[in-house]
Amino acid sequence: MHVNRSDDGPRDAPRGSILFVHGFPLDSSVWTHQLAALPAGWHALAPDLRGFGRSPLGAWAGELSSGRRVGNGIAFPDEPVLTMDRLADDMAALIEKEVGRPAVICGLSMGGYVALSLWRRRPDLVRALVLADTRAETDSDEARENRRRTAQLAREEGARPVADAMIGNLLAPATLDGDSDVVDRVRRMILATPPATLVAALAGLAARHDATGELPHIDVPTLVVVGEQDAVTPPAVARSMADAIPGARLAIIPGAGHLACLEAPEAFNQALAAFLDGIG
Ligand code: MLT
Repeated sequence: MHVNRSDDGPRDAPRGSILFVHGFPLDSSVWTHQLAALPAGWHALAPDLRGFGRSPLGAWAGELSSGRRVGNGIAFPDEPVLTMDRLADDMAALIEKEVGRPAVICGLSMGGYVALSLWRRRPDLVRALVLADTRAETDSDEARENRRRTAQLAREEGARPVADAMIGNLLAPATLDGDSDVVDRVRRMILATPPATLVAALAGLAARHDATGELPHIDVPTLVVVGEQDAVTPPAVARSMADAIPGARLAIIPGAGHLACLEAPEAFNQALAAFLDGIG
């Protein structure tokens, strides 16, 4: 697995370790601004999840569970399903190997689903949660159908139509119109994602667990962050998630869309630093 790391290792970081988990279909470079401005005393890991960025899917393909149907009867062909639990187990192995103590898990969108799965499966490894532009609910039938169509596009035509279909939803209008650097970076990340990963992850996203019932039981400090103009997981969704988690804080990032950490890094980093100050 390819992992970006902060300069300081876990032993040189008295305040603790943070694991940054990227969204779909992106890679660890979405966290560039967070790694560059990490508050003093913290150590960070930002892996490319399997199949994304520089981490191959193929090496693990044999371990993936395959299934004909996911969700409410929406059929995917008999292909590997990259589940959120599988990705969470990868993150658990990484924390055990490289950190050796509970870490702050900061997950963006799909990375938030992975963070919630990790908390459910391995709470002993989770010191705190940062849930960024994400949700606890599973997909609606309409969302699953949309994923099935997107997977079909990826199978037939590769990543390009997926990038075309997604990019307008991922970024705020002001980013789309005025920040060609961010638009290009996001487009490049999507185009670099192999179709096999797109298909396997779309099936895993559609099949994911509904975590809403678990939110009241989350007993670690939690920050919910959302872009003010997030069209995928809007502020109302973030607010209801924060309301359901005991003691959770909510930070709304002005002007940002679904990729707040990349679109408004200064405001995102301020919210993150204030949260980290409160826990370590
Ligand atoms: C993401 O950014 O990870 C995706 O938008 C998540 C999703 O499609 O549910």
